[in-house]
Amino acid sequence: MADNAKLIIEGTTYELPTLIGTEGEKAVDIRKLRGASGYVTLDSGYMNTGSCESAITFINGEEGILRYRGIPIEQLTEKSSFAEVSKLVLDGELPKSDVLDEFSRVLTENAMIPEELKNSLYNFPADAHPMSVLGSLIFGLAGFYPHVDATSSEDEIRTAATNLIAKTSTIAAFSYKRSIGEPFVYPSKDLGYSENFLNMMFSSPVNGYEIDSDMVEALEKLLILHVDHEQNCSASTMRLVGSSHANLYSAVAASIAALWGPLHGGANQSVMEMLATIHQSGKDPADFIEMAKDKSNSFRLAGFGHRVYKNYDPRARVIKGTCRKVLEKSAKDPLLQIAMQLEEQVLQDDYFIQRKLYPNVDFYSGILYKAMGIPTEMFTVLFAIGRMPGWISQWKEMISDPTNKIGRPRQIYNGNNKTDYTPVENR
Ligand code: SDX
Repeated sequence: MADNAKLIIEGTTYELPTLIGTEGEKAVDIRKLRGASGYVTLDSGYMNTGSCESAITFINGEEGILRYRGIPIEQLTEKSSFAEVSKLVLDGELPKSDVLDEFSRVLTENAMIPEELKNSLYNFPADAHPMSVLGSLIFGLAGFYPHVDATSSEDEIRTAATNLIAKTSTIAAFSYKRSIGEPFVYPSKDLGYSENFLNMMFSSPVNGYEIDSDMVEALEKLLILHVDHEQNCSASTMRLVGSSHANLYSAVAASIAALWGPLHGGANQSVMEMLATIHQSGKDPADFIEMAKDKSNSFRLAGFGHRVYKNYDPRARVIKGTCRKVLEKSAKDPLLQIAMQLEEQVLQDDYFIQRKLYPNVDFYSGILYKAMGIPTEMFTVLFAIGRMPGWISQWKEMISDPTNKIGRPRQIYNGNNKTDYTPVENR
């Protein structure tokens, strides 16, 4: 334990407990501050505020470290699978082989979605953004499966978690098939999670689909890299919505909404649109770098910068390596060349160096998704598929915390003081 912090307000000294996490992160515990002093703290964007203690994911932004339950993602992407990493974050430990086999079996068995929900896809325009479809149908699952909230049993929660992980990839693939007017391809019990997803996306009654093991390996790595990232915007949304004891499905739908933002998970789509714009312009990437530095211009380099990483995002490093391997097989992608040129120039530019802006997870992921044949508008959906186990794990940890309360931040009011009503004839 570290010494108490002392805060002097209006001549009174308040002693606030401090705590140190297992990796040396330090916090001042302000849970009793308002009661003792009448003061709240103000921290828009929560740049300096921890919302919880958590044992799921550790990030060291200065050193570019990311670990799930203590295991570095570099080891997990080399040795594990998305199903195994899902169990790791959900249960807190690597599963024994029989537990993993059972989880994988149940994931496939639960991959179907209710036919009524499948048919509802035709109520969306073919060009509806797939994040809109995904969020709607995930919310819709609440109409078909038992209500699960913070008071539910372990078994009910485990069933809903498996449901969500299993069905998210099917909803994603079905939304793609709907958008291109092709028949749905159902999940097969003979295929693993990533193989099933690629098959549901690209197989057709006419052409079938030959599963490419390199693409499956690349997809597994991408899903593993996206599984969790501590208290990011969408995970915090999951915790906040779940803290009201709302249905688990609705908390996930809210997290999907948060992820869609281009400052968050929507950045992978923005990166590809940016790279395509640079390619089509025929200009040097340096022109776009200058635009991003121009404060009078709202343009930002999508895929660069991060609230926590002030070093190279370790996920971007893994994805970049996988890009090279996958793209060696397929046609040279000019966008990868542009991305590597852009990265090289940015990493030498003082504006970015001073602000510690490095490529983040979204910078290279889109290039890999594109190499798999996944359309740009689906990139953030792939992010959601990967993040599903992480969102559920954050929610589970929140509901199992006996001290947890409904999330309800305070504010500092700076509006009108007491004002009398003015009748309309006098305005
Ligand atoms: C994800 O939180 C997570 O963990 C998220 C995530 C996860 O796994 O859940 O890691 C996934 O969301 C990755 C981030 C994806 N978003 C983008 O790539 C969008 C582009 N990046 C930015 O908009 C920005 O970097 C953020 C939103 C990611 C972080 O913003 P911050 O922490 O609020 O920092 P800021 O906006 O205050 O920027 C600090 C400075 C500013 O300049 P000054 O005012 O100091 O002069 O850096 C500049 C910014 O203008 N800056 C950029 C920039 N990002 C920040 N300038 C140009 N291009 C950029 N991309």
